[in-house]
Amino acid sequence: MHSLKLFLFASLFASPLVSAADPGQKPLTDRLSGTLFLDSDREPLTFNYSTHDPHESNWIALYRESRDGPANEAYSSPPLVWEYAPERQGSVYLAVNQIADSHSPGKYKAYFLANDGHRWLAPPVSVSLAGLSVNSGLRFPVDHATLHNSRQLEQYSARIDGLLLGQGSATTSFQKIEGASWVQVDSNGTAFGVPGIFAPRRSQVVVRATADGGSSAVIRLTIPVRRIHQALVRDLHILTWNLWHGGTQVRDYHEKQLRFILESGADIVCLQETTSDHATRLGQALGWYHWQSGKSVGIISRYPIVEEYGEITRAGGARIGLNGKRSGTELNLWTIHTGAYPYGPYDFCFDHLTPDQVLADEIKSLRVPQVTQTLDGIQNQLDDAQSVPVVFTGDFNAPSHLDWVESTRDNHCGVGNFSWPTSVLMAERGFVDSFRVVHPDPVRDPGNTWSPILPRHDGETGPIEPQDRIDFIYHKGRLEVVGSQKLVVGKPSPSPNHANNEWTSDHAALLTHYLV
Ligand SMILES: *[C@@H]1O[C@H](CO)[C@@H](O)[C@H](O)[C@H]1NC(C)=O
Ligand SMILES: *[C@@H]1O[C@H](CO)[C@@H](O)[C@H](O)[C@H]1NC(C)=O
Ligand SMILES: *[C@@H]1O[C@H](CO)[C@@H](O)[C@H](O)[C@H]1NC(C)=O
Repeated sequence: MHSLKLFLFASLFASPLVSAADPGQKPLTDRLSGTLFLDSDREPLTFNYSTHDPHESNWIALYRESRDGPANEAYSSPPLVWEYAPERQGSVYLAVNQIADSHSPGKYKAYFLANDGHRWLAPPVSVSLAGLSVNSGLRFPVDHATLHNSRQLEQYSARIDGLLLGQGSATTSFQKIEGASWVQVDSNGTAFGVPGIFAPRRSQVVVRATADGGSSAVIRLTIPVRRIHQALVRDLHILTWNLWHGGTQVRDYHEKQLRFILESGADIVCLQETTSDHATRLGQALGWYHWQSGKSVGIISRYPIVEEYGEITRAGGARIGLNGKRSGTELNLWTIHTGAYPYGPYDFCFDHLTPDQVLADEIKSLRVPQVTQTLDGIQNQLDDAQSVPVVFTGDFNAPSHLDWVESTRDNHCGVGNFSWPTSVLMAERGFVDSFRVVHPDPVRDPGNTWSPILPRHDGETGPIEPQDRIDFIYHKGRLEVVGSQKLVVGKPSPSPNHANNEWTSDHAALLTHYLV
């Protein structure tokens, strides 16, 4: 096997699909006489092509699928990487390592195009690049991961194959090396079995993944085992995280994000700035349930998404089932990413607007109407919150009236009390700000989530970025807050020197630990 494969790419799954799913394009593909195939046995990415119209300037180009490329046989964006394909029949190698830093993983599309232009010579080919690092070798993002809860005498199953990185185009298989006798590991990367009544309360299993080229990686897994009569879930950790362009601003974001999510202990992650498919990407890699909106937000969860509510303005919601096959605990979960501009703290700090002008901007930015419409849209869930609690998270792009008070005047450009209308709306509708339940003093615990990479540099020239808590986890109904903390990994270098940060976002994340 070519070692370069592993060197170039964490993993590569490819299928020579004809991707003209849009019925409007059907006639187009029908009239094409050329062919384009991915040769998955050779170095990524190698394509075989053929055409009845050979030309020295025919070319093969790769585009990210979410940016449309020459989908309509016209220019729409530059390709990520391309090469000429001048023969009647031949093969072309696209050096995807050139794009590894900033563009993988995800879905891509390759086009065989005529004569330096955008006329198709063959139906395009879809390519998925998973994993992402240019580091070589098979590995897991963490040495140890805790999986979702099991319960005595109930069938259990968890997938870990998506966590494996660096397999190139190799075939891999998984096996149990040691651990609790009730846990079996299928070669496909599924841990399964039925814990008996003597199963260890935190059952452990060590799993090895082996690639056909011989390299291997090991991960230790913990599976909590609940007792027969217990609820499947008692401690629930909910994370809200603005990914910042999906995470793509930082190298190796896929691996870093997986590591952070697994180490945070989150059971449910509410995401913003998922830019088209990043909630799906993370959900699939973690082997979790996932819902991706067409806009900014997404939800990934260890426990089943039993109903998708879809979108209301800039929010999205789902109902999560927390008690396995038995009835019982459920949760209604919403996450929002409101309009960003004009931004209130800039209004006060840089533009020195009056409180009334700032209030007007909270409406102009659409934040107030977006929150109001979402809350109106889920009024029935709010009314029912005593039986099914509602958790409402997100990047509100506005601070809280609980934080802008007299005692914090000095942290907020000399403004004391200010009733930020979105946090007031949440309070009026009966929501509790989980962070302030355990950290009531905004002087001692500001909890600022904006922004760990635009830190406040007092004494330096240039504008001082106002620091604020703009990401929230609110709840309504019978949930007990055990803890709530903002999370950042490492000491991120300030923008614009952020590319090698371990922290992949420009926001801090917020994690609340509930008892359900
Ligand atoms: C691509 O072309 C090479 C060389 O001609 C050939 O060995 C290989 O089987 C082809 N692969 C596909 C998928 O057509
Ligand atoms: C993986 O293995 C599990 C356990 O044997 C099995 O139930 C499941 O169907 C397999 N999944 C796939 C995709 O083969
Ligand atoms: C600020 O708000 C608090 C609580 O509502 C109130 O007690 C206090 O008088 C206000 N201070 C000023 C200066 O408005």
